[in-house]
Amino acid sequence: MSAKREQWGSRWGFILATMGSAVGLGNIWRFSYAMGSNGGSAFLIIYLLSVILLGFPIMLIEFSIGKRGQDDAVQSFKKIAPKTSWYIAGGLGVLAAFLILSFYGIIGGWSLRYTYEYISGGIGGDSSAFFQNFIGQSVSPILWSFLFMAITVAIVLMGVKKGIESSSKWMMPILSLLVIGLAAYSLTLGGTAEAFAFMFQPEWSAFTDPEVYLAAMGQAFFTLSLGMGIMLTYGSYLKPDERLTSSAAVIILLDTSFALISGLMIFPALFAFGLDPTEGAGLVFIVLPGIFDALGGIGIFVGLLFFVLLTLAALSSSISLLEVSVSFLMDRVKMTRKGITLLLGSIIFLLGIPSSLSQGAMDITILGSSFLDFMDLFTANVLLPSSALISVLFVAWTWKKQDIYTHTDLKQGAVGTAFLMLARFFVPVAIALVLVFGIFNWLF
Ligand code: PHE
Ligand code: NA
Repeated sequence: MSAKREQWGSRWGFILATMGSAVGLGNIWRFSYAMGSNGGSAFLIIYLLSVILLGFPIMLIEFSIGKRGQDDAVQSFKKIAPKTSWYIAGGLGVLAAFLILSFYGIIGGWSLRYTYEYISGGIGGDSSAFFQNFIGQSVSPILWSFLFMAITVAIVLMGVKKGIESSSKWMMPILSLLVIGLAAYSLTLGGTAEAFAFMFQPEWSAFTDPEVYLAAMGQAFFTLSLGMGIMLTYGSYLKPDERLTSSAAVIILLDTSFALISGLMIFPALFAFGLDPTEGAGLVFIVLPGIFDALGGIGIFVGLLFFVLLTLAALSSSISLLEVSVSFLMDRVKMTRKGITLLLGSIIFLLGIPSSLSQGAMDITILGSSFLDFMDLFTANVLLPSSALISVLFVAWTWKKQDIYTHTDLKQGAVGTAFLMLARFFVPVAIALVLVFGIFNWLF
């Protein structure tokens, strides 16, 4: 199939590219809104547990399938276990990447629009009204999303390596500094006590709500780019002797810190301005302009910087999402990379239109959620966990113990045994339980 497999230039090239995929709108936009609508602290605790107990083993497993198979998200399964159906995990992943990008592109478009707004003077006055008015229009948000998708397509066309690997190098540090700085400022605004209570004071009744588990686990999958063949594909560009465990740990630690600090940036300001944490998808686009406005003249500059970087972080993730389907098709149809990228980019853009329209211009709801929220929840809460579940079962139950150790870079001993136990029993049972609860909860 793929004649010459590419390889990462260095271990840090691999880590940076993976971080580029992981750190994105999920850490700022999605994390704050999911936490806001799911009771705060209970969500946070379950999310952190999911990241450690599910996210870490699953990331290692996805890396190891790619490293062993040395091929794309579907073909790697077929190579390792010919004539079996395990490759369905990869297929579900490719489908998920496709659907996620359709609405990710809409939010990316919002971020671009806000960038433009700060170039031309900022958003004063009622930021909530401004936002509702913008996303409620039919044409304008779609045009901005077109622009966002066009940039994504252009970068994927040029080839991922140079663009992403090198841009992540300076983007991530600046974005980190900005988020930390804004969080520090937000903590001075007067909503800190309320924010801390909301974020950190456990409200025990929320722990009995299956929806909170579903939301927290879905967020863990989404934010770590799991369950969609990305980690698998990136792992396939690794040399066989690569260190995996420490790379996974670094990526997870960074992604989680990003989310936590974003929470400290959003929630104190939110309570200081008396806004509602259950606002939903618009949370970031309403609260942050409020802070920037309160900062005075320099706020326009900080706002500009922030939305430029949010857009770039979104781009480095959207590129990885598009790359999954592009590389999948490239091995299967007789078309150039250029043709496939343009074709898929266009289809995904069109698929995003109902998501955009569902934000006010038209009434498109599925199972009680707007079309955009439905796509978001369905992929994060159903598709990603299903794909990850199959991958985990595949590795933990069909590979020889020694193969598992070799390809995950774990040693026999306490840590290896703990990992094996997690991967064989805890992870599959936890995912399956939450999936069943979640689907039931949703439909009935
Ligand atoms: N992990 C990215 C984020 O947090 C989103 C993403 C999901 C990117 C899946 C690629 C694949 O924004
Ligand atoms: Na993320």
